[in-house]
Amino acid sequence: MSQIKLQVVDPAKMIELGEALARNFQSGDLIVLDGVVGAGKTTLTKGIAKGLKVKGSVTSPTFVIARVHESQVNGPELVHVDAYRLSSVMEVDGLDLESSLDGAVTVVEWGSGLIEGLTPENWLIQIVRDSDESNDLREVTITIPQSRSLDLKA
Ligand SMILES: Nc1ncnc2c1ncn2[C@@H]1O[C@H](COP(=O)(O)OP(=O)(O)OP(=O)(O)O)[C@@H](O)[C@H]1O
Ligand SMILES: [Mg+2]
Repeated sequence: MSQIKLQVVDPAKMIELGEALARNFQSGDLIVLDGVVGAGKTTLTKGIAKGLKVKGSVTSPTFVIARVHESQVNGPELVHVDAYRLSSVMEVDGLDLESSLDGAVTVVEWGSGLIEGLTPENWLIQIVRDSDESNDLREVTITIPQSRSLDLKA
């Protein structure tokens, strides 16, 4: 299992990272986003959506737990899940993410510890923010699935 650690200085750079990551994702991929409230999980997902060229805008869903963004380019769709309100694997099962998984890149905020059973392997992206909340710097650790590699160059 290999990991890479990056410093992301502002929201625009977080979007760029998402775009670069998206080029490495393929249909069937499960991406778990880990990080406290306001870490930048949704911001990163916006970048992934941009990179995948999917329809609609990525938002922090208040009531919607999973949102499907269709591709504009005949590529994988983006399934964006906010598991914040889910507390058990059983509730995750209820979302039936398996049925959309194959044709999608599935990104799950707050999925750590809940969602990993869905696929044999997954990407894990951990975002850590400074204890000083006015600091825009984020440390991002990407854990790459065993069978895959990561190229962040444009
Ligand atoms: N380097 C950075 N990367 C990402 N976001 C940043 C950065 N610096 C500042 N921000 C700001 O931090 C906030 C991150 O919010 P975002 O909704 O992406 O977080 P989140 O992890 O999804 O939170 P939640 O757990 O509530 O869903 C945004 O207001 C964004 O502009
Ligand atoms: Mg969010």
